[in-house]
Amino acid sequence: MTFLKFQDRNIHYQLKENNSEKIIIFIHGSGGNSKVWTNQFQIDLKWDFIAIDLPNHNKSDIFPNISLDLYVEVVRTVINVRRYKDIVLCGHSLGGAVIQAYYYKYPSEVSGLILCDTGARLRVSPRIFESLKADYEQFINSLPNGAFYRKTPKEIIEQYLNEARQESADITFRDFSICDEFDTLEKTSEIKIPTLIICGTADKLTPVKYSQFLREKIEDSMLVLIEQAGHMVMIEKPEEVNNAIQKFITEYQI
Ligand code: COA
Repeated sequence: MTFLKFQDRNIHYQLKENNSEKIIIFIHGSGGNSKVWTNQFQIDLKWDFIAIDLPNHNKSDIFPNISLDLYVEVVRTVINVRRYKDIVLCGHSLGGAVIQAYYYKYPSEVSGLILCDTGARLRVSPRIFESLKADYEQFINSLPNGAFYRKTPKEIIEQYLNEARQESADITFRDFSICDEFDTLEKTSEIKIPTLIICGTADKLTPVKYSQFLREKIEDSMLVLIEQAGHMVMIEKPEEVNNAIQKFITEYQI
């Protein structure tokens, strides 16, 4: 297991090393953890890969106050374990907000972005907050309807739900609050680096419209819509996501 210290606390991350000067850093969404990226570690590229457990998630320590900026600084600390020539940030949902915020704060440090089932504004339905407050297990049990394509195999959904059960209702609530406050619609056209936008066509939480907006505003971008996938596209259709990432890296010669 790989840990590093941030503000005297442990941050856990998964690492696949190829001794490369190039790296993709994967950031999970609300109430998730680094394991959602397990399939992406199979991408056929001789790059290094890191998937982070954000503070208070999975094996990372508890931090008293979490915020979008704390998440950004954690990602930066992990990146700096080694000197990389090219850094591509890949974020899902809340993770997409983290990597956009990272780019706006440190634009010269990033070579590319992969925005996966996310948006430039992530308002959260009051029903999600109510459900999280009322009964966490019921919230988890409602996820198959909201977060997955209706025909996604049960084993894939169950595996994710079991991971989500390990996280706390309070942390998931705080993650969604960060999403709810995130609104960079006015700034999106400032993104000037190659950007891959991926969205499941059946995504109900961050609908295709959000990804189309990103595609229109980010000059140097490509949009890949993936059929028969909902909000959890990287676990619902891993092969398609991996192919899209490989094609993006190759075509943009990052
Ligand atoms: N990209 C492009 N357009 C966006 C956007 C984004 N990221 N976020 C919102 N918009 C658009 C909406 O489509 C809408 O456009 P319209 O007026 O042409 O229909 C407008 O901006 C305002 O929408 P929104 O910010 O969503 O506010 P709202 O008060 O209408 O609705 C919710 C609030 C929470 C009910 C709604 O956002 C929703 O259903 N969200 C999806 C479910 C959810 O909770 N997802 C969790 C995300 S982490």
